[in-house]
Amino acid sequence: MMAHPGRVAALVEADGLVHIYKKDDLEVVALQGLDLRLEEGELIAVVGRSGSGKTTLLNVLAALEAPSAGRLMVAGRDLTRLIPSEREAYRRDTVGYMWQHSQRNLWPPLNSLENVQVPMLATAAEPSREERARGLLDALGLGHRLKHRPVQLSGGERQRLALAVALANQPRLLLVDEPTSELDTESSEDLMRDVAALLMDLRVGTIMVTHDPALGRHVDRVVQIRDGRTSTETRYIERDRGLVADELTIVDRFGRLQIPLHLLEELGLDSLVRIQRDGDGLRISPARGRRGRE
Ligand SMILES: Nc1ncnc2c1ncn2[C@@H]1O[C@H](COP(=O)(O)OP(=O)(O)O)[C@@H](O)[C@H]1O
Ligand SMILES: [Mg+2]
Repeated sequence: MMAHPGRVAALVEADGLVHIYKKDDLEVVALQGLDLRLEEGELIAVVGRSGSGKTTLLNVLAALEAPSAGRLMVAGRDLTRLIPSEREAYRRDTVGYMWQHSQRNLWPPLNSLENVQVPMLATAAEPSREERARGLLDALGLGHRLKHRPVQLSGGERQRLALAVALANQPRLLLVDEPTSELDTESSEDLMRDVAALLMDLRVGTIMVTHDPALGRHVDRVVQIRDGRTSTETRYIERDRGLVADELTIVDRFGRLQIPLHLLEELGLDSLVRIQRDGDGLRISPARGRRGRE
């Protein structure tokens, strides 16, 4: 299927992505036709209410969950049809995952230098492992914490260590789930500033889920998820008085879009609207007074 004819393949191309969790007789549709594109080396934030499907999206991108339907290409691989050996190679070589709960990223008995080498055990020889681990820890400001174990680190330092672990195998795609949810505002800002600078430098494509819209200024774009679909995209543009948010609505390749909730309510838009061309744009108005046959 050619989703974007004439365009260069992106690092991530998701079209109409659907993910359904089945438990006994219950079905939860966590992703319902999600569209997303991430360029090589781009850093984006994904925001959205709890339960909107953010973690599910990361799990599908990490090949921890197979999508139920839709198209998903990452680094030229079709994630809807991986066989087990390909899935294992993909998870080892292509993606790095920083889990929301930092304990899940780290081995408590190992020090920082050892933790970062764990993902490299299968892929790199020992001298280069340690050198790479030192380099990453230095770049993340942990050069003075090489021999500390996770419990001996502060919350912010533990997150930096978790990030170093996720980057250990030089992934092309980095997935980060709510890295600042256990930190105070000041540590969050510090962490985000350093992380954004490092990732821009490494040019690793990154999708970072966050609940904190203020962190949006450190990334290339902020994508909003609503009910399992991407709904809007915000870029922060520099103007003379600082950063200004420019929010755009996402239109999928079938022409579907989500009208912002506050506009639905303010304008009384209901199950049917009238769409008319208005010069270079469109006019969407309530279909008031419509009765049966006209
Ligand atoms: N393992 C699971 N089994 C069943 N339902 C799940 C599972 N994980 C998440 N869900 C449901 O899927 C929806 C999306 O969840 P999630 O992706 O965790 O959202 P978010 O990360 O945005 O809070 C929610 O309704 C959640 O209850
Ligand atoms: Mg989540």
